[in-house]
Amino acid sequence: MRALITGCTGQDGFYLTDFLSKKGYEVVGIKRRSCQESQAPDCELIEGDITDPHFLRSVVNEVKPDEFYNLAAMSHVGESFKIPFVAMEVNATGTLNCLEAAKSIGCKFYQASTSEMYGDSPAPQNEETPFRPRSPYAIAKLASYWLVRNYRERGLYAVNGILFNHESPLRSPDFVTQKVCTAAARGEKVKLGNLEARRDWGHAEDYVAGMWLMMQQPFADDYVLATGETRSVYELCEVAYGMVGKHYLDYVEVDTTLFRPTEVEHLCGNPKKAEAIGWRRKHSFYSLVGEMIAAASK
Ligand code: GDD
Repeated sequence: MRALITGCTGQDGFYLTDFLSKKGYEVVGIKRRSCQESQAPDCELIEGDITDPHFLRSVVNEVKPDEFYNLAAMSHVGESFKIPFVAMEVNATGTLNCLEAAKSIGCKFYQASTSEMYGDSPAPQNEETPFRPRSPYAIAKLASYWLVRNYRERGLYAVNGILFNHESPLRSPDFVTQKVCTAAARGEKVKLGNLEARRDWGHAEDYVAGMWLMMQQPFADDYVLATGETRSVYELCEVAYGMVGKHYLDYVEVDTTLFRPTEVEHLCGNPKKAEAIGWRRKHSFYSLVGEMIAAASK
């Protein structure tokens, strides 16, 4: 089996490459030319951009993957308010380019959809929950979600993995878990934005196994991957600083410039549908935070 992965040098690309390689897949990754990779996945890498439809079509026709995973994205929600055109170009048009390329050879297609699409729809959220996106990032991802469904209705095996937040030691410090765990590990103070936002935080290693599982079903469909647990940024700080024997109130400061213009306040996913096809998690919230702190302490 051969897999093509866009966004291969990101956190999920790294874990998915490792997972598929262990299953005996030949993996080819697409890497953006300007991408600063924090870790190099162990696979063949091709340089290019998903915003270029001609490049994608020629790569797909050359590689002829059985499975195509689109993990490339402008992934920082806060940044998408500052660069909305980039968010739309990469997260919406980029997906369309990938779908057209997949359709040209008829390979299976996975789209990295996101719980951000639920926006302010009340928790808990599942596959039936209405979408009410709250950022250019989420609006672009929602366009992709519907494109995937449309291509599926037209005969392509195309799935949306609606993933809630998933973290690991490979997470960039642009995201709140890594920012907090790194500061806690170093015994440093941290400036944060909205401490009341609630998120459903899982481990990326568990979530890439779910991506693969969705692609092995007899019929393509959409699935939520989540833990079913939700915690505030406050609670994340309490747990992280608690693990290094410190009280978070002595270390956490609020910086109002880090608040988002419109915020998603409460995410908590229901993973029942994915569990029904055999998805199981290995990591807990506490083991995740512990692993991130241990890695940041090195
Ligand atoms: N990044 C960041 N930095 N977030 C902060 C901070 C801070 O200093 N202070 C508070 N927060 C709050 C954000 O406002 C948000 O409510 C929450 O912490 C989580 O922020 P992120 O870690 O940046 O993640 P996200 O939830 O916005 O998005 C992540 O998860 C999505 C899936 O739900 C990203 O990985 C997205 O790409 C992904 O789709």
